[in-house]
Amino acid sequence: MKPFTFQTSPNILFEPGAAGKIAETVASFGASQVMLVTDRGVRGAGLTRTAEEALAKAGLTLSVFEDVVADPPSEVVERAAAQARETGAELVLSIGGGSALDTAKLVAYLAVNDEGLDGIYGVGLAKGKRLPLVLVPTTAGTGSEVTPIAIVTTPTTEKKGVVAPRLLPDWAILDPELTLGLPAHVTAATGIDAMVHAIEAYTSRHRKNPMSDQLARQALALLSSHIRTACRDGANLEARSAMLLGSMLAGMAFANAPVAAVHALAYPIGAIFHVPHGLSNALVLMGVMRFNLEAAEAEAAYAELAPILDPSAAGLPRAEAASRFVESLAAICRDCGVPARLSEVGVKEADLPRLAEDAMKQTRLLVNNPREVTYADAFSIYSEALDGKLRRAE
Ligand SMILES: NC(=O)c1ccc[n+]([C@@H]2O[C@H](COP(=O)([O-])OP(=O)(O)OC[C@H]3O[C@@H](n4cnc5c(N)ncnc54)[C@H](O)[C@@H]3O)[C@@H](O)[C@H]2O)c1
Ligand SMILES: [Fe+2]
Repeated sequence: MKPFTFQTSPNILFEPGAAGKIAETVASFGASQVMLVTDRGVRGAGLTRTAEEALAKAGLTLSVFEDVVADPPSEVVERAAAQARETGAELVLSIGGGSALDTAKLVAYLAVNDEGLDGIYGVGLAKGKRLPLVLVPTTAGTGSEVTPIAIVTTPTTEKKGVVAPRLLPDWAILDPELTLGLPAHVTAATGIDAMVHAIEAYTSRHRKNPMSDQLARQALALLSSHIRTACRDGANLEARSAMLLGSMLAGMAFANAPVAAVHALAYPIGAIFHVPHGLSNALVLMGVMRFNLEAAEAEAAYAELAPILDPSAAGLPRAEAASRFVESLAAICRDCGVPARLSEVGVKEADLPRLAEDAMKQTRLLVNNPREVTYADAFSIYSEALDGKLRRAE
């Protein structure tokens, strides 16, 4: 067996109503000055209220940063870190989607380190101490609460990652009740993101391992069997719980067996056109998977996963089972009302070269893909995703 390493968050609480225990967990660190990192949508929806009130009641001082926006720009992260330093934050708590959680990870690090963001982009460069960190997800998507990753949009609209074990939080608190009010289109996009994490972890070229495989399979089973219900009937706690658990398990899988070309091609769409991360993934998912089918390893992996989505695929010849898998995913996207074309989110034919150029910069991710992706391949995949027409790069 190939040797492997596996890391995740050391402490996890998963419970409907767990938001009521955030203050207790925070107080256990003995901090008196706490920074809450969130966004206006989440705070406006009242999702931070229970924790804010309980923290105040426990005598802790709270400084709130609610200016996080989707695909957080570096400037926002730096402003949040400055606020943490100015207020003398002793612990960082984040309640929100992946954007808030990622910002909080970097705030906890930058608040007590002199190096700037530019010095820590990449893998394993953030080695210093950080403030205690408690993360509470309100989307069932990124799995950020269990990953050592924070994704930032640079001033040149590039999405860069800081990847370091130091960014794993002390506590991940998962309360499915916080996700009951997620609008259907966000539920669909973030749920697809989580499914892509599981699929790309399962096909990851270098660090795929027995633990990430099990987690990816379990995540995919939970997500694929509950995503339609969660989109149709948002108040269904059982479906919401399965989605939140599935996204966490997928996060654990891809944190150790990293994602690949779907994410590499999705990032420029998010960075340039401000398309939500999950939707960006969904828009290139089919194209990348059909491209990957040409690689024997990917075909075998997709065939192995196929019965999880479609039990009748069990026992089919490999190629047939693998295409059944891709078709089943396409059906989920359709049933959940996810847009299928890049043209529907404002991308034009003239944008294709820039998208393909930017995707090629995501070398950290592309190396994990089961099939090598060239500029010409990326161009063709974007082109088909645009409007169904295949164009070749000049
Ligand atoms: N760290 C990681 O491992 C990792 C993995 C994948 C993606 N990401 C990053 O995470 C970000 C995307 O995060 P996301 O998909 O969770 O979305 P998000 O955090 O950007 O939030 C999307 C929107 O949903 C709203 N929202 C969140 N929770 C809600 C709730 N319960 N009810 C109502 N509205 C709610 C927010 O206010 C926001 O407007 C991207 O920047 C992406 O690159 C990080
Ligand atoms: Fe993702």
